[in-house]
Amino acid sequence: MGASFLTLGIETSCDDTGVALLEGERKVVASVLSSQVEDHARYGGVIPELASRKHQEVLLSLLDGMLKEAGLGPPHHGKPDLIAVTFGPGLMGSLLVGVMTAKALAQAWDIPLVGVNHIEGHMFANVISDENVAPPFIALVASGGHTEVYHVPRFGTYELLGKTRDDAVGECYDKVAKLLGLPYPGGPTVDRLARDGNPGAFSFPVPLSSSNKVEFSYSGLKTAVLTEIRRHEKSGRPLDIADLCASFQKAAVAALMGKLEIAVKQTGTTRIAVSGGVASNSLLRRLLKSMSNWEVFIPPAELCTDNAAMIAAAGRNRFMRGFTGALDLTPDPSASLSENR
Ligand code: KG4
Ligand code: ZN
Repeated sequence: MGASFLTLGIETSCDDTGVALLEGERKVVASVLSSQVEDHARYGGVIPELASRKHQEVLLSLLDGMLKEAGLGPPHHGKPDLIAVTFGPGLMGSLLVGVMTAKALAQAWDIPLVGVNHIEGHMFANVISDENVAPPFIALVASGGHTEVYHVPRFGTYELLGKTRDDAVGECYDKVAKLLGLPYPGGPTVDRLARDGNPGAFSFPVPLSSSNKVEFSYSGLKTAVLTEIRRHEKSGRPLDIADLCASFQKAAVAALMGKLEIAVKQTGTTRIAVSGGVASNSLLRRLLKSMSNWEVFIPPAELCTDNAAMIAAAGRNRFMRGFTGALDLTPDPSASLSENR
């Protein structure tokens, strides 16, 4: 199979509709995204029913535009060699839109279809962005829905070392932003404000810092921030939002770094691939880069957040490992990656 092997990727698991064309293993020919952030912003979070309707509205025209631009589809009659679509985890209604569309296209074009686990997709953002990303490595997937650490001895084998007991780290950023009256999604804004603040101004506990397991918990940290805000309100003293953001960020990121250190000790692997929206975080990036004994990979920002190029890359890899999904592929909102051989 030559480098011109074309994979069409489709991603509709949450609130971004994404389509992409990947040539060979890592050349992104096109990657188009329609974000629903503004639709959900006024509610302060993702509304599932609204998300699936929006995917339905935009997916076909997004696909049509991208394929035309690439000289595929009518009237050119060209077609990709493979379709990769996210089948889970995610929102049921949203996943359905992508999976049903992918099935219809695979049938019409008579090409193979492969279902991709969204988390495996995030890891492949690293593969696209750097040719040196090869197993064995530790993968930290940190986003609005996930905070999970895997040991990846080879592609296709994902040993879950640990995950969050409650909120995801990105979700915690979003909730803290909401408490401060900042717009959704809050991660980028809190990160930006934190740069001008004093991280020592408030002392927030680093979640689960005394446990020697790879595990996370972010709901207590959010409550600690809320308590601090209330205390200030009661006292009538003005709250320095930059200081609060910097102090919160220090604790939130310290938990990620601490658990990565444990994962390195447990596995003896020092190659680390970080992905998901929170991989864009400036403090996390800085601290990761400062670990001179680690080989750290972080994709560029546009590949950190949800996109279809990473789904295409993971799907192509699965296809090469002998997997083809079939027309009986069904969405699985709580798909587990460790059982996804
Ligand atoms: O991967 P992603 O686009 O979607 C999910 O699969 O969840 O991640 C979005 C999440 C949001 O919670 C957002 O607030 C967070 O990533 N995020 C950040 C930053 N940029 C995005 N969190 C902290 N610092 C950032 N710079
Ligand atoms: Zn994601």
